[in-house]
Amino acid sequence: MNAPSLKRDWNAYYKAVKERPPRKTILTALAAFENPGLAIDLGCGIGRDTIAILQRNWTVLAIDKSPDAIAQLQTDLADFAPQLQTQVSQFKELKITQTVDLINASFCLPFCSPQAFPSLWEQIVNSLKPGGRFCGHFFGDRDSWGETDLIHTLSRSQVETLLQPFTIELLEEEEHPGKTPLGEDRDWHIFHIVARKL
Ligand SMILES: C[S@@+](CC[C@H](N)C(=O)[O-])C[C@H]1O[C@@H](n2cnc3c(N)ncnc32)[C@H](O)[C@@H]1O
Repeated sequence: MNAPSLKRDWNAYYKAVKERPPRKTILTALAAFENPGLAIDLGCGIGRDTIAILQRNWTVLAIDKSPDAIAQLQTDLADFAPQLQTQVSQFKELKITQTVDLINASFCLPFCSPQAFPSLWEQIVNSLKPGGRFCGHFFGDRDSWGETDLIHTLSRSQVETLLQPFTIELLEEEEHPGKTPLGEDRDWHIFHIVARKL
């Protein structure tokens, strides 16, 4: 039997989270750097985390598959235009060509297909400088959305395997019933990560 399909209305999601602050993971990662550098914000949405990176004088390449999200981010963050580049791209087509200090991926990598993920993760690891940081989230194998075809989930040991090229600075596991920003019931199982490349 095929897995049930669960399509996301990302524009409704952006509206629902518009006023929410940047994530703890990006704030923790930024606080660990002595100097600003070059960052990629993967699956940036409308820039909930991008703004925190720009405000600390970093240069940012913000990437998302949604042209609507990128257009809104460009408008909302127009004051930071000299520090900001954007790219509309699907994870499966993405080629990271720069070497960077920070890659942020908040609540987006689980939406990369299991087929495309290994190559994307290899690019993430290889494009970070030694001492650079990855921060972001994965969904765990007890997340109720794992039974749909929308996300791919990882066990804790799979997450730890992915993080072998890093020193783990933050690895928090969150698991509880709750609601999505759009009010849907969901059993959340989330890994919150900050890791420094060896
Ligand atoms: C839950 S939102 C998170 C947005 C933002 N990082 C935040 O924390 O508010 C997930 C984002 O990933 C993007 N996304 C989902 N699948 C994607 C894919 N295959 N390639 C690129 N971006 C994708 C969506 O367009 C959406 O903006």
